[in-house]
Amino acid sequence: METNDVVLITGASSGVGLSLTHHLAGRFHVLAAARSLGKLKAEFGENPDVSVFGLDLADPDATKDLLDTIVAQHESIAYVINNAGVNVAGTLEELEDADVQRSLQVNAISPALIMRRLLPQMKAHDFGRVINMTSGAPLNCFPGYSAYSASKGALNAFTVTAARECAEYNIKINLMSPGPVKTNMAPNGPLDPSVCHPTVDYLLSLDADGPTGRFFWLGYEIPLFPILEGIEWLEGRADERYRRAF
Ligand SMILES: NC(=O)c1ccc[n+]([C@@H]2O[C@H](COP(=O)([O-])OP(=O)(O)OC[C@H]3O[C@@H](n4cnc5c(N)ncnc54)[C@H](OP(=O)(O)O)[C@@H]3O)[C@@H](O)[C@H]2O)c1
Repeated sequence: METNDVVLITGASSGVGLSLTHHLAGRFHVLAAARSLGKLKAEFGENPDVSVFGLDLADPDATKDLLDTIVAQHESIAYVINNAGVNVAGTLEELEDADVQRSLQVNAISPALIMRRLLPQMKAHDFGRVINMTSGAPLNCFPGYSAYSASKGALNAFTVTAARECAEYNIKINLMSPGPVKTNMAPNGPLDPSVCHPTVDYLLSLDADGPTGRFFWLGYEIPLFPILEGIEWLEGRADERYRRAF
């Protein structure tokens, strides 16, 4: 890694993203984005290794405008940490349409938009490292968090599919969860957000043979999918490993 490498970190104003911006600034030039531009300026305004940007991921046009701005400013943005997220709690019946739409937009659709805008540049340089911050929620589907779980499930699918679509390139697109860390989103989290730093360092420094389309958490690799050998999805058949329900 060279010191002039640029990393875009969304959700840099608090919690995990704030911790990561402090951790990575210097080794990288950090493009730190969040809605709370005042907080970003107060935290990083004097830091020459950080550029701060106001960004509302709920607004796709504003997200596209910011991407145009940073792409014009930097020849290569080879590192991306799609970290920003919202967790709107409530049972499925309690949720408003707007809650569901905002969760999907901020947690999945805008991160996918960021990938769509930056992947061509990464392909042109044959290099990219993307970390999408997911959660164990879509694997657990805890009652009361369907908007969050569904949005992170969508992020997982965008990530794994994009990783497979980029398999011919030295582009690694992985998922991680920071762990149960104490932040505004999870005020009772038992761990400090810095526990995620080694996983981030690992994923940003993967070599060309490294994993892509996989999920990491606190140094562990977590399986995303059940083993589905013996199912021919496109032919409508499954072999004797699968119990017939009727
Ligand atoms: N804490 C945990 O234990 C835990 C566990 C699993 C996964 N995660 C994931 O880790 C990531 C970071 O969360 P955190 O725990 O650090 O929570 P946090 O302290 O609430 O941070 C969330 C960040 O996202 C930004 N954000 C929220 N809505 C946004 C929007 N519409 N546009 C742009 N930025 C927005 C916030 O900044 P502004 O308000 O300034 O926009 C903030 O910087 C999330 O993706 C979360 O799902 C956390």
